[in-house]
Amino acid sequence: MKVLILPDEQAAVDRAADIVARTVRDAPDAVLGLATGGTMLPLYETLAQRHAAGDVSFARTVSFNLDEYIGLPPEHPCSYHSYMREAFFDRVDIDPSRTHLPRGDAPDPQAAARDYEAAIERAGGIDLQLLGIGRNGHIGFNEPTASLGSRTRIKTLTDSTRQANRRYFDSFDETPRYAITMGVATILASRACLLLATGAAKADAVARMVEGPLSAACPASALQLHAKATVVLDREAAGAL
Ligand code: GLP
Repeated sequence: MKVLILPDEQAAVDRAADIVARTVRDAPDAVLGLATGGTMLPLYETLAQRHAAGDVSFARTVSFNLDEYIGLPPEHPCSYHSYMREAFFDRVDIDPSRTHLPRGDAPDPQAAARDYEAAIERAGGIDLQLLGIGRNGHIGFNEPTASLGSRTRIKTLTDSTRQANRRYFDSFDETPRYAITMGVATILASRACLLLATGAAKADAVARMVEGPLSAACPASALQLHAKATVVLDREAAGAL
């Protein structure tokens, strides 16, 4: 695991954006795994700015997002489909037909999960998987105790994750209880991983991921097994290392 500690949030975001931009410049039809969450917003902003400046094109990029809330249709303002359109897809030249997110409103979510895995395989696998980290060490929506061998499936969200996501919904009750998420093994199968974490609230989870035992209690620690995992941190997120 390569750990890069940058002086502040924007420096960390810039470094992560360099890695994404280099990937699509080297291989314009690269398959990117994309993530959501507050941490990713400045990264998408930076990539959109670089695109507007003519520095990077996503015209041939294929993308697969990590996860989506169960019960939310793509048009729901709090869905990850909406997040991705607003934060990134509508701001760059990516072809919408090449973007993929799991469907949260599929009539048969288990079948949708299997189909999603098959679609990733048909695309030739993921070249670079972007990741954030939850305060409890989750990646995607793989909460603590998620099987390290898991593939895309339905997961129950912990109360702490629902509390963290509550700010996007009208009430805690309306905050989704389930999500469809790539599994830990789906993430590990990508050819490279790039985890971005910023801010002091992530410091404990980051320390458990990087220095703690490899354990399903901290799903992000599974990245210790990955041959090409890069962790980009600002000084605050690195504070407990
Ligand atoms: C959600 C997402 C994760 C993300 C995490 C952290 O649970 N499913 O992919 O990494 O939140 O989000 P934030 O960056 O807002 O702290």
